[in-house]
Amino acid sequence: MLTTLFRNAAIYTPVDEGKPLAGKLQGHVRSWERGALLCDKGIITAVGSEEDVLAKAKDMEVDMEVDCQGACMIPGFVDPHTHICFAERREKEFSMRLAGASYLDILKAGGGILSSVRSVRNAKEEELLSTTLDNVLTALSFGTTSMEIKSGYGLDTETELKMLRVIERVGKETPLDVIATFMGAHAIPEEYKSNPEEYVKLLIDEMIPAASKQGIAQYCDVFCEEGVFSVEQSRRILEAARNRGFKLKIHADEVHDLGGAGLAAELETASAEHLLAANEENLKAMAEKGVIADLLPATAYSLKKPYAKARKMIELGVPVALATDCNPGSSYTESMPFVFGLAVLNMDMTVEEALVASTLNAAYSIGLNHKVGSLEVGKQADFLLLDGETPAILAYHAGVSPVVEVYKKGIHVA
Ligand code: NIG
Ligand code: FE
Repeated sequence: MLTTLFRNAAIYTPVDEGKPLAGKLQGHVRSWERGALLCDKGIITAVGSEEDVLAKAKDMEVDMEVDCQGACMIPGFVDPHTHICFAERREKEFSMRLAGASYLDILKAGGGILSSVRSVRNAKEEELLSTTLDNVLTALSFGTTSMEIKSGYGLDTETELKMLRVIERVGKETPLDVIATFMGAHAIPEEYKSNPEEYVKLLIDEMIPAASKQGIAQYCDVFCEEGVFSVEQSRRILEAARNRGFKLKIHADEVHDLGGAGLAAELETASAEHLLAANEENLKAMAEKGVIADLLPATAYSLKKPYAKARKMIELGVPVALATDCNPGSSYTESMPFVFGLAVLNMDMTVEEALVASTLNAAYSIGLNHKVGSLEVGKQADFLLLDGETPAILAYHAGVSPVVEVYKKGIHVA
């Protein structure tokens, strides 16, 4: 089908001003109570009030017309931070955390990320693809139409490249736009426990060049944290990655305020992730450099930690994006509506700010802003129909998904 007209929808969309929305513009949203959207071969050709769009459509051949029956229409969610490619769940570890064990202590004892490393190393490529597809299709049913997926459960060259091949196939075998991130620096593998510096060398001399040669991953990410990679090691790893053409991301100040947010500003990474413990001076530096804060409230929720200071970041002018961080350890959820609700109710973001954060700013943080993240002429017709009048339904109707229909490039996909 070529030209499709969606009419009778309450449309809410961020306004793309050519850069991530920050400060007072963090909640820059337009809406039409009775709106319509016209798309041709999956690309939006008109959007606005129904009256205006119908006037434009009058002289065109419209192949299909869809009455949205007053449903709320928003852009498809962009989830810019996931570890959704994994082989096995870690439910026992969750129970250990409930009984008082800390996330980093579990990792230190060889569990956590390292237990996912064992299962991913053992999984055949087809098995890993199958578990990943299950997870990604769940995310799609909750409205995620574009997603970033990290490697980082291989921690050896061969398995990291296997993960990246699986991530590439997920992009080909599902309707989603998928961006791959190389995260060989996710933990120190057991075989390098007594000599972490050797692993940093392996990353720089062998793994990063191999991932670059393979050509699937666009970004490189590092877990900068006490007992994982220091600021100094993270700097060397990220610089090596940048020299090989990768764009950069960093898990910064998740548990301890090591200064990862400052490193993000120094290297002008595309985004800095988590930031639960980041200090104000480094957040200011991020704002100056336009580094996007990818906030992951479902991780704070699951780890029972204080949430990232979203209000402070917005006040300082840091552009804020939201992501699930979907992974089998610290945040086992594929649901952007859940993240949206946490952002509004537990991080005091407004509904408009959360909408921008989970669509347009998220798209900027993975380099997809030219084609997704807002409902504007020239972008893909990736949108959701919600069972509600406004995007507030995403926070208001808690614990269920108000996403009733998912469209990717104008086609009904879930
Ligand atoms: O972003 N913090 C490091 N990495 C992930 C967790 C990965 C895992 O526990 O498997 C995160 O929370
Ligand atoms: Fe993460």
